[in-house]
Amino acid sequence: MNIIKCKDIDDYAKTAAQIVTDRINSKPDIVLGLPTGSTPVPLYKELSSLYNQGKVDFSRVTTYNLDEYIGLDRSSEQSYYNFMHTNLFKHINVKAENINIPNNDPNGLEMECLEYETAIKESGGIDLQVLGIGHNGHIGFNEPGTPFDSTTHIIELSEETIAANARFFDTPAMVPKKAISMGIRTIMLSKEILLLAYGKDKAEILKRALTGDITTDVPASVLKLHPNLTIVVDEEASSLL
Ligand code: PGA
Repeated sequence: MNIIKCKDIDDYAKTAAQIVTDRINSKPDIVLGLPTGSTPVPLYKELSSLYNQGKVDFSRVTTYNLDEYIGLDRSSEQSYYNFMHTNLFKHINVKAENINIPNNDPNGLEMECLEYETAIKESGGIDLQVLGIGHNGHIGFNEPGTPFDSTTHIIELSEETIAANARFFDTPAMVPKKAISMGIRTIMLSKEILLLAYGKDKAEILKRALTGDITTDVPASVLKLHPNLTIVVDEEASSLL
C-alpha cells in the first residue's frame, strides 16, 4: 500500500490525474473503473485539462462506472450517467461505445447485474479502479455488511449514505433508496486500485479503514488485502494516518 499525502486539493488533483494519465499512456486501451461523488471531481477537471493540452488520449480507453441509482431516469440531473457526462465524458475523447454505466432500467436489473460482470470480464478486467470512500466506509455503494465476495448487485442505501447524498437533491426524500453497484469482489479483482479522499470529514473513516481490522463493517478495510493499492489524500484527510 502506497500512501501519497498531498499538500492541498490542487496537488491532490494533479497527483491523481498524473497517475491515471501515466497508466493510460503506458496502456492506451486500458480499462478504467470510475467513481462519482465529490471525490473525483478535481481529478476529472484535471484529466479534462490534460486532454486539452494533448497529454492524454482516451480514444481507446474503456470505462466502467462503479454504480448508479435505481429509481432515477438516466436523463435526470442527479443520475450518475449525467454526472459522468457533465464532469468528464463530454470534455474528453472517450468513445460513447466504450462507456459503461450500470443500466438502471427497473425491468432488467437482475439481468443487468450479470451482464455487467460479464462485460467487465470480456473487456479483460479492470486495469485501474479509481475509488472514493463514503463516511461509513462504503466503496462503490457497498454499504457496511456487504459480503466481500459480492459481485455486481442491487443494494439498499444506508440512512447515512442517503443523508450524505441529499446535498445533491432538493429534499432528502428525493434521494433514491436503492442502487446497482459493482460488488466488493468485482472491485478487488481490479489489477490496480487508486483510492482517493480529501477533506477533514474523511480523516476518521480513512483511519478506521487503513489502520483498523479488516471487517465488512468497514467495506474499504478490505482494500488492505489488495496487492496494488495506491492512496492519494490531501493533508486534511490524512491527518489521522
Ligand atoms: P463523496 O462520496 O465523493 O461524495 O464524498 C464518496 C463515496 O460515497 O464513495
